[in-house]
Parts: sequence; C-alpha cells; structure tokens
Amino acid sequence: MDAMGLDRRTFVAAGISLGAAALSQDAPSHAAPAQGQPQRIRVGVIGCGSVSGSYLPHLAKCPYAEVVSACDIRPERAARRAREFNIPRHYPHVDQMLAGEPFDLLVNLTDMQEHEHLNRQAIEAGKHVWSEKPIANTLAAGQELLALARRKNLRLWGAPVVVTSPQFAFMARTIASGALGTLAAAHAEYGHEGPTWSSFFYEKGGGSMPDLGVYNLTTLTGLLGPARAVSAMVSIVTPKRTIDEKGEITVTEEDNAMVLLDHGNGVISHTQSGFNYFNPHGHSGAKEERHTITIIGNHGWMGLVGYDWEPHGVDVATKDHPESARRQVDAEGYVWQQGASLAAESLVTGKELLVTPEHALHVVEIITAARESQASGRRIELKSTFNWPIITS
Ligand SMILES: NC(=O)c1ccc[n+]([C@@H]2O[C@H](COP(=O)([O-])OP(=O)(O)OC[C@H]3O[C@@H](n4cnc5c(N)ncnc54)[C@H](O)[C@@H]3O)[C@@H](O)[C@H]2O)c1
Repeated sequence: MDAMGLDRRTFVAAGISLGAAALSQDAPSHAAPAQGQPQRIRVGVIGCGSVSGSYLPHLAKCPYAEVVSACDIRPERAARRAREFNIPRHYPHVDQMLAGEPFDLLVNLTDMQEHEHLNRQAIEAGKHVWSEKPIANTLAAGQELLALARRKNLRLWGAPVVVTSPQFAFMARTIASGALGTLAAAHAEYGHEGPTWSSFFYEKGGGSMPDLGVYNLTTLTGLLGPARAVSAMVSIVTPKRTIDEKGEITVTEEDNAMVLLDHGNGVISHTQSGFNYFNPHGHSGAKEERHTITIIGNHGWMGLVGYDWEPHGVDVATKDHPESARRQVDAEGYVWQQGASLAAESLVTGKELLVTPEHALHVVEIITAARESQASGRRIELKSTFNWPIITS
C-alpha cells in the first residue's frame, strides 16, 4: 500500500478511469477526450537538441500523448521545436516550465549529467518521468529517486527500450526453449566515431558506456539475467576532440570500454563500446547488417542482425539445424525512440512496460562498477537486481 492507500493494481485500474495524472499532486485539468478517443497524457519535453528530433515526431503520432510544453536552456531550440510540432508553450528554464503550462509527464532529453537533478525536481513537482539514459548518475541516487517517485504515486522510467523489440522477445524465447542448450557466453558491441555536436558526451558523467554500451548491457542482462560481478578495462583513446560551435575540448570520461559480466551459472558476457570505432554506416548505424550481439550455448548459437536498438533479424544455428536461418526480420513497428510514447500509453491504460527502472539502475551500477574495476584493477561485486526473466511466455 502507498501513501494514498492504493496498491499497484488499484493504481493501474484507477489510472484507466481517472488518467494517471489525476493521482499526481498538481494534477492538471484534462480536456475530456473526444468520444472513442483515449485519454491523452499532457507531456512536457525538456532538452530540445538532437534526440528531440526523433522523439517529437513519435510523440506527435501517439494517441495517448499531447505535448503541451517544451524547454531548453538554449531558448531558441525550445522555440524552434514548439513551432515545428505545434507545442503551445516553451520555456528557457525548468523552474518556469514546472510553474507554467500544467503537464503530467516530463520527457527528459537533456545532457546525461543533467538527468538526475531534473528528474528529481520533476518528481518533487508531482510529474511522472520518462528519462533518456541514464536516469541518475549512481545506483544510490537512482534508488532514492525511485523511492521518492513511489511515495508520491508517480512513475519513473528510462531509456533504452531494447527489451521491447520483437527480436529481443524472440531471443529470450529461444534461450528459454533450450534450443541453444546450456548457455556459456555472449558478446555485444556498439561504437562509432562519436558525436560532434555536444561536449557532454566526453565529460565526467558522460562517456561511451552510458551513451552506447548501455544498449548492449541492457540487452545482455535482459537475456542472460542480472549480473553478479563486473571486471572491466576502460580508457581514453582520443584525449582532445573538436566539438561544433565550441572548438577543442579535453576528454575526461572513457571513450573506449571492455566490460565482462558474470551472470551466474557460469555464464559470462563481454560488451565493448567506444567513440573511436570506424563505422561504415556512420553515427546512425541504421543499415548495419553484421551480428552485433551473439549468444552461444553448447547446442546452438544466435546472432542479432544489426543493432539491438534497430534490429533487422536473428540468425540461429543449432546442432539440429546447423545451417544458419534468419528469423524475426520484422521489427513490428518497434523503434528505439518509442519510450516516451510507451510511457504515456502505460499511464493511460495501466499496461505495464517491459522496461523497468530497476533494470535501468542495474545497468547504471554496472557502468560505475566498470569504472571502479578499471581504477582498482579488481573484479567488482554488484548489489542491485531486477525482475527477470523479462519475457515469460
Ligand atoms: N542524439 C541521439 O541520436 C541520441 C540517441 C539516443 C539517445 N540520446 C540521448 O539523449 C540525450 C540528449 O542527447 P542529444 O544528442 O539530444 O544532446 P544535445 O546536446 O543535442 O541536446 C541536449 C539539449 O539539452 C539542453 N539542456 C541541457 N541542460 C539543460 C537543462 N538543465 N534544462 C533544459 N535544457 C537543457 C541543451 O541545451 C541541448 O539543447 C542524451 O542522454 C543522449 O545520450 C541521444
């Protein structure tokens, strides 16, 4: 039971009839939905840079969301997004946004280092939060945020949404079916030459692990289970970078990472990520056809075609069918930028997401532990876990 005397199931049922926002402290008044139309969650988007250009078109088509407010400390960016997407209000600062046009769900698309404090401020102001990764900079800070959200009957979720792809579901079911036999090992990789448009990617609290490795770490822990321990080496390959509109900067967070995870039962995985990877498909990587994730057991093997955030199929070979066969080529509408729309849908319908804050925070702990492993030369035991398996049927 929570402070309002509602348990989770009742909350979900209440959310269907009331709209979840009605449970938040500063619940705005909703316009009644047109007949046959679902309730729309009022959304405020903070951070109107590169990734907002992918989120906003998806939110604009989402039947459960209405973007009413945009904010950026570079006011011209908020104004531009407001114009492009018919967003009625825009603000130059979070304080003004929170005091201005009422909304229910904050979608946080700011610099990685800004997420934690903005997420806290939004929850304190009674908003649900969908945050780009990471939700917080440390496990402890993230767990505090989650506890605060729960005390206030609010939801907190974070990117990435790789576990919602049909290819992830196919791989999880293939493992559960025993088709690969006893699992032993997995490998994953994601890299490119690094963004040029903002310096935060290369500064403390940024780095290639929370920007890129986070996808693979989420997929591998999602498929193989929570990790018990981390051993890692991370490094800076390119100490100086040139950033658009800013010039030369000093890189202070890793741009190269190799992370070993112990998933228990003898299963070990390896994830590599970095900002110094030549990639013929450039930053977007959309046309990637290589296997970027492989899972190996004593009876079979499977390889994800393309990236986990934009998968194109799964190749499977087993002792029974040694000829590799391509399966699950259809992404069935899954796109990596769908997280905020899924959050709005969940708030309206009560449908729980496969994405959980506990899983996101487990990955945050892996990333900080990888840095600790590099600094100390030791294997680091992990404390956090999440509900697993994610796909149960
Ligand atoms: N760009 C991509 O393709 C991409 C893809 C997936 C995820 N992401 C993630 O999205 C987040 C943003 O990345 P980006 O590439 O859009 O960066 P960006 O630099 O293009 O945009 C970030 C924006 O946030 C604004 N901002 C920073 N602090 C703020 C604050 N306190 N209040 C209001 N606005 C603030 C900045 O002015 C900037 O306009 C990061 O977490 C990144 O890892 C980016």
